[in-house]
Amino acid sequence: MCGIFGYKGKEVKLSCLIEGLKRLEYRGYDSCGVVSYNLEKFLCQKNSGKIQKLKKDLGAKLNDKYSSALLHTRWATHGKPVKLNAHPHKSFKKNIYVVHNGIIENHLDLKKKLKKKGYKFKTDTDSEVVANLIASFYKNSIEKAVASAVKKLKGAFALGVLSESEPDKIVAVRHRSPLLIGVADKGFFLASDLPAVIPLAKEVIYLKEKQIAVLEENKIKLYSFEGKKLRVKKEKIEIKTEEAKKKGFKHFMLKEIYEQPKVLQDSLDIYLKDSKINFDQLKLTKKYLKGIKNIFITACGTAFHAAYVAKYFLERHTKIKVEVDTSSEFRYRDFNVSKGDLFIAISQSGETADTLAALKKAKQQKAKVLSICNVIGSSLVRESDSFIYTPAGPEIGVASTKAYTTQLICLYLFCLHLATIKNTVPKEERKKILKELSKIPFYQRKILKQNKKIAAIAKKFSKMGCFLFLGRGINFPSALEGALKLKEISYIPAEGYPAGEMKHGPIALIDEYRAVVCIAPKDHLYEKMASNLQEIKARKGKILAIINPADKEILPFADQAIYIPRLNYQELSPLLVAVALQLLAYSVARNLGAEIDQPRNLAKSVTVE
Ligand code: G6P
Repeated sequence: MCGIFGYKGKEVKLSCLIEGLKRLEYRGYDSCGVVSYNLEKFLCQKNSGKIQKLKKDLGAKLNDKYSSALLHTRWATHGKPVKLNAHPHKSFKKNIYVVHNGIIENHLDLKKKLKKKGYKFKTDTDSEVVANLIASFYKNSIEKAVASAVKKLKGAFALGVLSESEPDKIVAVRHRSPLLIGVADKGFFLASDLPAVIPLAKEVIYLKEKQIAVLEENKIKLYSFEGKKLRVKKEKIEIKTEEAKKKGFKHFMLKEIYEQPKVLQDSLDIYLKDSKINFDQLKLTKKYLKGIKNIFITACGTAFHAAYVAKYFLERHTKIKVEVDTSSEFRYRDFNVSKGDLFIAISQSGETADTLAALKKAKQQKAKVLSICNVIGSSLVRESDSFIYTPAGPEIGVASTKAYTTQLICLYLFCLHLATIKNTVPKEERKKILKELSKIPFYQRKILKQNKKIAAIAKKFSKMGCFLFLGRGINFPSALEGALKLKEISYIPAEGYPAGEMKHGPIALIDEYRAVVCIAPKDHLYEKMASNLQEIKARKGKILAIINPADKEILPFADQAIYIPRLNYQELSPLLVAVALQLLAYSVARNLGAEIDQPRNLAKSVTVE
């Protein structure tokens, strides 16, 4: 994973570079570092912990200006998250600094060979091997040394390289890990993703696979790994991102939970105009959509749960067979996707390594690829045939909230679009669903108003040893998502299960010290959920029911209840259940004093497999 930031130009303040790096902190935050140069002066500082700590330690140096710099924020893959293993890594000989995002699969083999040549290693990282490998090729040109070294590397890597012998050059490499160059008046900014350079640059150069860029004060040279000189293609940056601020909320996560009615309304405003679904921008023709044979959906983490909800809805209304799988499984399966199939990839960041790999595999098999994504210039969007933008805005909390519900609402709308084209949904029913969809922001606000009550419930449940989340049908994925939210930020073991499977194992867990969250809106599976609840009660489980107001059958068995508005179309209830369970997870984590926005060991975007 990790985030790379860098600079080559006339000069900028170190504080500006640190702010750039901060915009990449979602990619990892266990250690960080910087190397920078100006007028024969080098600065190299590394720290374990977050960028804020590095900033504090740099103190007055933040005002110094530099003409070359490489910065890095790390999510440990090889080697513990300690200062020693933080980037930049310096070579044993020749003073070459490297920042790296990715995994070098053959690093042990290379390390052995380099040791035989007399290179010594201080760290456990695969990245230090890269620095030494480049040094082993270095004669008088850093770009030539890098070009020779990358041919020996196996795995995924984006690199930034700075040599003390040629400090007026930064060399950048992209191979299966994202890297781009923002072009500004002040010079060139290197970054792992677009949002990091948006406040600084007007144009962007997206490095493609197996490309090496050499940045100097006023020019860029671009080469293929084979040494062929390439044309530099600059693209205008059209997007503006609002700077993420907490706006009075204690945590980004809470702020993002509260933003959901607004961003869902924004989604409706974009894709539903005068009761008409508008996906005119889709590059998939009506003829193609009508003829779709199968749909495959892939994603990771929370986005995978959105995919799972979509499966239920799509199958019911479009009558198309839908298969969902996590991207990390999908990419290694022998699945047969063919020309008439639609492959949907869902991702908040658009940079998740496994989702990108699954997408590439589907493309090789000639399927059309539609991505649903929150970042317009992301790798996923650029690789897809067509894409639906989820207007959630920047999501900073590592645990996904508003990105999830915007993915859901876009998927519901896309499904109805498809069903309309295929003529598989009766007009009246479609009308009813759309009417209810447009009221979702209003219903979500009603749940947000219960925050105090939910916090009080959370207080009672936060000492529980483990949580079981149960749901049925379209709310089975809601159970998975509820459990994921809770474990991510509170570190309490939590499982999501289809309630019907309870008797096949999870029931063994139940006693008075375990909590069971039962998602039971009044839908066609309600009676079944009611029976499950009684079985739990008989075994002294502590029940928190997510139910509709005026519930009579389940309430008597529940220890606590959170009410979600009763919908005329209950298939949309995951959009409401999500909000209730996010607030629950947030309050439990707060009671336990957990670090909510940046939970331990996690990262917002998983850019290695
Ligand atoms: C990480 C994040 C999750 C996210 C998942 C997929 O695990 O912590 O919040 O759901 O990656 O990320 P994506 O950007 O592809 O949606």
